[in-house]
This record gives sequence, C-alpha cells and structure tokens, in this order.
Amino acid sequence: MSDPKKPQAMPTGPERELEIYALGLGGGKPAVPIPLEMLEQKAKEMLSPRAYDYVAGGAGSEDTMRANREAFYRWRIVPRMLRDVAKRDLSVELFGARLPAPILLGPVGVQEIVHKDADVASVRAATSLGLPFVLSTMSSRTIEEVAQAADNVAVSPRWFQLYWGKNPELTASMVQRAERAGYSALVVTLDTHSLGWRERDLHHGYLPFMLGQGLANYFSDPIFRGLLAQPPEQNPMAAIQLWGSLFSNPALTWKDIVFLRQHTRVPIILKGILHANDAALALEAGVDGLIVSNHGGRQVDGGIGALDALPSVVREVNGRVPVLFDSGIRRGADVFKALALGARAVLLGRPYMWGLAVAGEAGVREVLLNLVADLDLTLALSGYTCCRELDASALWRSDLAEALS
Ligand SMILES: Cc1cc2nc3c(=O)[nH]c(=O)nc-3n(C[C@H](O)[C@H](O)[C@H](O)COP(=O)(O)O)c2cc1C
Repeated sequence: MSDPKKPQAMPTGPERELEIYALGLGGGKPAVPIPLEMLEQKAKEMLSPRAYDYVAGGAGSEDTMRANREAFYRWRIVPRMLRDVAKRDLSVELFGARLPAPILLGPVGVQEIVHKDADVASVRAATSLGLPFVLSTMSSRTIEEVAQAADNVAVSPRWFQLYWGKNPELTASMVQRAERAGYSALVVTLDTHSLGWRERDLHHGYLPFMLGQGLANYFSDPIFRGLLAQPPEQNPMAAIQLWGSLFSNPALTWKDIVFLRQHTRVPIILKGILHANDAALALEAGVDGLIVSNHGGRQVDGGIGALDALPSVVREVNGRVPVLFDSGIRRGADVFKALALGARAVLLGRPYMWGLAVAGEAGVREVLLNLVADLDLTLALSGYTCCRELDASALWRSDLAEALS
C-alpha cells in the first residue's frame, strides 16, 4: 500500500508529455490550459475584474513587471550535446530538507479572492508533490488550519511569511503560532512596509483587506483579539480598522532583524533583497537565507528586474547562505536561468494563482507538474542532469558576450 504521508513521485518531462498526448489520443484535453497565457486568460474570464487586477497588477506603470520578464529574455540558454542526460535529478537540499524540485509556492495573500478553498487548496497541492508552501501573513485561512490541511496530505516543509507590523507582541504571537504549528522557517518580507502605488486597485477602489479578506491570522490571534473591545465576529469594522493601524511598520531597521534572530529558533529568510549591500547587512544580522525578489513588481515602479539583481547578491553572499529567487518565474527555462545565476531554488507566484482560480487544488497541482516537467526537459535538452551542475557558463547574453567568453 502506498504511504499516505509520502508525497507522490513527480513524473519526468517525457512522462508528463506522454500522459497528456495519451489523453489527446482519447479525444481528451487538459482541463487546466497548459500555455500560461491561456491559463491566465481563462482565470480572467472566471474572476471579477477587480480580483483579476489585484493579482495581475503591479505598481505604477508596471514597468518593473516588464523588467522582470525582459531580464529573463536577455539571458539565453546555450544547449550542450552528447552528455548522457538519460537520468536526471532535479532535487535540491534546502535547510536540511531534500526537495524533489527547486520550486516552492511563494507567499501570496488573500487567495480567497480567486478560489474559495484558498490557501488550503494551494498547500495541499504543494504538499502532495513534496514541494514547500510558504504561507502569507495575509492568508485567507489561519496558520493552524493550513498546517492541519497539509498534514493530512503528506510530509513536506511549510514556511511562514511574516509581515512585521507595529505591535511587537502581535508579531511575536504570530511567530510562536507558526513555530507551534510546524512551520520550519520564517520568511520576513521587507519590501512591503506600505502598499505600492497600484493603479489598477486604486482605479477599482479595491483593497480586499478592507473588506475583511486576508485577515484570518489577525482575527484568530489572541493578542489581536485582546486589543479589541468586541471580537471581530461581532464588530468586523473595528477589527479591520485595528488591522489598518497595525499592519505597516516603515520604521523597521536592521537592528530589528538582529532582535528577531534572538527570538526564534527557526531559520530566518529575508525576502525582497535586491542590492548587494543589503545582502551584506543581512548576513551581518545573522540570517539564514535570502530571497532576491521585487514582489513581482507590485511595490516599486521603475525598479530593477529581479533577475538582474541576482548575480551581484549571489557574489556578495558567496555561498554562505542559500539565495532563493522570485519575480517573473513562468516556465522551466526561467527556473533554469535563475539556478544558473546562483539561486538554490525559486518561488512561484502569479502562475499558481491562475491555476487556483481555474481549478482549485487540482489547478495548482497541474501548474506545478507542468513547470517541473518543463524544467526537466529544459535541463536535459540543454545537456544537464541536475540542478547543481548549472552555472553561468550555461547562459549567454549578447551585451556581455565578450566578458563571458
Ligand atoms: C496577489 C499577490 C499577493 C501577494 N501577497 C504576498 C504576501 O502576502 N507576502 C509576500 O511576501 N509576497 C506576496 N506576494 C509576492 C509573491 O510572494 C512573489 O514575490 C511575486 O508574486 C513574484 O512575482 P511573480 O508572481 O510575477 O513571479 C504577492 C503576490 C501576488 C501576485
């Protein structure tokens, strides 16, 4: 009998292709569109305009989102031949856990606006494949509910993403809840101490949190509840107002990270690092990992493409802690490029929201299976058998051709 606590083995790229073509032979077609553009389009048709725009949109003119994609485009893969790629191993080691592929579901808040099962669907999809899930502070289900939903599926790492607000007791309470519920790392997001100027959301006059969505972790927190005259169930407006007054803390500095380091036993990973000097300060503060990310272009308009920031951060870190990456990962080639530039693993954002919108848990699973299959094939067809082998020599850029040759 198969062990229900064991994640399902993931098909290789060719196996996945065969499954899909066999379905086609019988007149079938994947229920979740495979081309991401079609998947997003289907999600758009199913969602309200404001929910779609909340996920799809970015800060200001959205040119940071474009820069994210353009940065990937500039790096080209240079395939190598005749290198026995018959057997591949996509697994990577991260904080003592071996992941079957270098892919995590990144923290995405307020998932209930795209599907009623929200974070529970996403965590179950990731866990069933042994891939880590990072739960947002702004999740639609509580830290504890999500832990329980995942535990019933299989054993795989889950991390908690922390937005560090104004109330230190509330922050400490959330960290303790996450530790108690088995989240094995803290992702501290640094780039969102205020919300970016998001023109689509401003146009709709829409912020889901102001409707009480994405506040499950606050409404269920004993410290938060203790600050209210009436519980959130009785007076949601007062609870939403309290959240608004506590959410952001633009006064944080590197000293606060040192403080956090002393108050948690789990690894701390800082998300939102784009400058090599910040990477150096992060290491001085004693953190255990970094995520190079510009929050999918949702915070600073006119920003650097996240992939363009990766090499200098990797150089500064020099192997001392793992560097992860997100912002613009869409397909296997993107994962390949990020790994070749020094990322240990990548986090997926919007694409899994489109899968969730279209088909809930099954939709997220399909998106993950397709991405892993695509990565496996990209690796093999480029002449590599495992993620560790990748470095910048697998890539080419016309503007740097001389420097790299
Ligand atoms: C709808 C939405 C909500 C997000 N919520 C959070 C969040 O709560 N915490 C966080 O650290 N990042 C959040 N992010 C950022 C993602 O973790 C990730 O950095 C981003 O999606 C990467 O860009 P990409 O989706 O274009 O690849 C969110 C992103 C989206 C699209």
